Amino acid sequence: MKINGVKGMNDILPAQVGRWQEIERVARDVFALHGYREVRTPVVEPYALYARGVGEATDIVNKEMYVFEDKGEEKLALRPEGTAGTVRAFIEHGAYVEGPQKWFYVGPMFRRERPQKGRYRQFHQLGVEAFGIAEPAIDVEQIAMVAELFRRLSVTASLQVNSVGDAACRPAYLEELRAWLRAHGGALCSDCRERTERNPLRVLDCKVPTCQPVLAEAPGLLERLCDGCRTHFDAVRQGLEDLGVPYRVNPRLVRGLDYYVRTAYEFTSDALGSQSAVVGGGRYDGLVETLGGPPTPGIGFGMGEERLALILEAAGRPVAENRPEVFLISADDVGRREVLRRAAALRRAGIACDLDARGGKLARQFKQAERVGARFAIVLGAAEAASGQAKLKDMATREETPVVLADLAGRLRPAAGA
Ligand code: HAM
Repeated sequence: MKINGVKGMNDILPAQVGRWQEIERVARDVFALHGYREVRTPVVEPYALYARGVGEATDIVNKEMYVFEDKGEEKLALRPEGTAGTVRAFIEHGAYVEGPQKWFYVGPMFRRERPQKGRYRQFHQLGVEAFGIAEPAIDVEQIAMVAELFRRLSVTASLQVNSVGDAACRPAYLEELRAWLRAHGGALCSDCRERTERNPLRVLDCKVPTCQPVLAEAPGLLERLCDGCRTHFDAVRQGLEDLGVPYRVNPRLVRGLDYYVRTAYEFTSDALGSQSAVVGGGRYDGLVETLGGPPTPGIGFGMGEERLALILEAAGRPVAENRPEVFLISADDVGRREVLRRAAALRRAGIACDLDARGGKLARQFKQAERVGARFAIVLGAAEAASGQAKLKDMATREETPVVLADLAGRLRPAAGA
């Protein structure tokens, strides 16, 4: 019986993986240039971490999380995002005693959403979290870091920023908003009406066309920010302008996780269709405390790797593949031993090479050399072993050049990183 993979969870096959490796290589370089260090946390965490950290009223926790009882002992969840687990690790290992920390992670996340282009049930995030810095300078540095990463990948994306307020100004605003939404409920969709009670800020994010003109009139938080939030937001904007990072203020930008305060931002791309956000992030100054640590400000973002890969694909960017420099072809029984011996020596010298371990007809071996994209091929047999000479064939031009086998490694290009 054939068993297929789980809906919304994808294989990344060898022909595509080069794109992923490129994204991760560039991201790791850029993160390191900004002083971020990698952390690796488990894919499974206690359910309570997300209920308390991300918020029980959010769609992510409420509807989309994979939750299970571990043999009746503990309620666990597959991580739907990286921030809560990273904060848990930060607290559990007492990392806060060392002062500000900049961490990054790469890995799979799980949300039981309806799969569509750019939206999957297992997806991958490149994420960063900076702890212990309340000043807007870190917001600016982090957003500019995304811009630099995109510059290096030649990706165009637009940045939207907003301030979602804090404990000083948001509660009063939420009450005002809720009252307004109740009064206008008749003109709103059923989702909006339900969210009015549960999570009124999320109503602003509704994509239903008939709700748009109504919501455009809703009271805005930006005009009601407290002095602290206002000053912070102004400084973030000034910093982005100083660094030449283009942005648009979107007063309706709200995020799907409850921990955000002050700065919230997203990078979106037209190449993605309806799931247009490629990066989402913001500040979460109360989260470390909520999860049992000392009061510690924090800010971070998550970048969807699938969505980044889709953008690169839409731009027609080729996938870098590792190709062998040379393919060793055996002409006879002596050659069969010779190719293995020579291949081992070449690989020790850092030269990527391959051979057809089945041996057999020359034509089939040449075909294999072509299929794997080898730059050169070389035929080895009793004659070549005796003379110490062979012909190096350029697979693109078909040109053959004599080569002394003892010099072979010197004639070839070492693999990157060899
Ligand atoms: P998020 O906005 O939920 O934020 O996710 C961040 C990014 O992950 C999205 O912009 C998108 O590119 C990608 N993503 C999310 N869901 C899916 C999905 N179902 N399929 C494919 N890609 C998806 C967070 O997760 C926060 N933890 C970000 C953060 C870190 N905030 C502070 N620190």
